[in-house]
Amino acid sequence: MIKIHNLSKSYAKKKILKNIHLSVAKGSLVAIMGKSGAGKSTFLHLLAALDQPDQGEIHIHEQSIFQMKGNQLADFRNQHIGIVFQFHHLLSEFTVLENVCIPGSRKKYTAKTIKTRAQNLLTDLGLSKKMHEKPSILSGGEQQRVAIARALINEPSILLADEPSGSLDEENAHILHQLLMTFKKKNNQTSIIATHNPQLAKQADQVYTIKNGHIIQTF
Ligand SMILES: Nc1ncnc2c1ncn2[C@@H]1O[C@H](COP(=O)(O)OP(=O)(O)O)[C@@H](O)[C@H]1O
Ligand SMILES: [Mg+2]
Repeated sequence: MIKIHNLSKSYAKKKILKNIHLSVAKGSLVAIMGKSGAGKSTFLHLLAALDQPDQGEIHIHEQSIFQMKGNQLADFRNQHIGIVFQFHHLLSEFTVLENVCIPGSRKKYTAKTIKTRAQNLLTDLGLSKKMHEKPSILSGGEQQRVAIARALINEPSILLADEPSGSLDEENAHILHQLLMTFKKKNNQTSIIATHNPQLAKQADQVYTIKNGHIIQTF
């Protein structure tokens, strides 16, 4: 469902990713490892077409993602891709529930359905009592769970997560990983997760490591 062909990316003449080829099957969990600065975030940004490559193509659902522009790309992303960043980027002036509802697709759902979905996701993530709070009073682990709910609001077929547990302590990281696994199984989502966490990598179907611009399958 995801096909990456000859993908290269550089910043200021420094080659970060070199001629990457990779296919990811529907429903699989792929862990992307590699040292800080190896290019994990760069790779995930390209997968979401948040950035353009120097060369190469990515096909998602048979669509060439770098060919899409403007609204078409925004709609595609909104429909098919959920993203969890390392730092959750929640909007501080909105409640937890509002944060989850905001990216809800009005093309796909009614406002009422979006709200119900958000409430159900937050309940599944153990946040039923925090829905009407502002994100700032939540713990780091809770905020990251809100970011997961937000990423899943449109039932994306692909979840991209960039070191989602990178800022959490071990216990909260473990809770977050279990939740990611539960959702992944429930929705048969394809998940690509950049992580340093060996526990999470152990649960992946494939583990790749980015090193010197190459992506090497390590499991
Ligand atoms: N927007 C950018 N402009 C210039 N250099 C960048 C930019 N984004 C990332 N880089 C550089 O690309 C390399 C890979 O970064 P990144 O993908 O963030 O690595 P990782 O996520 O594995 O830590 C780093 O050397 C980083 O400094
Ligand atoms: Mg990164």
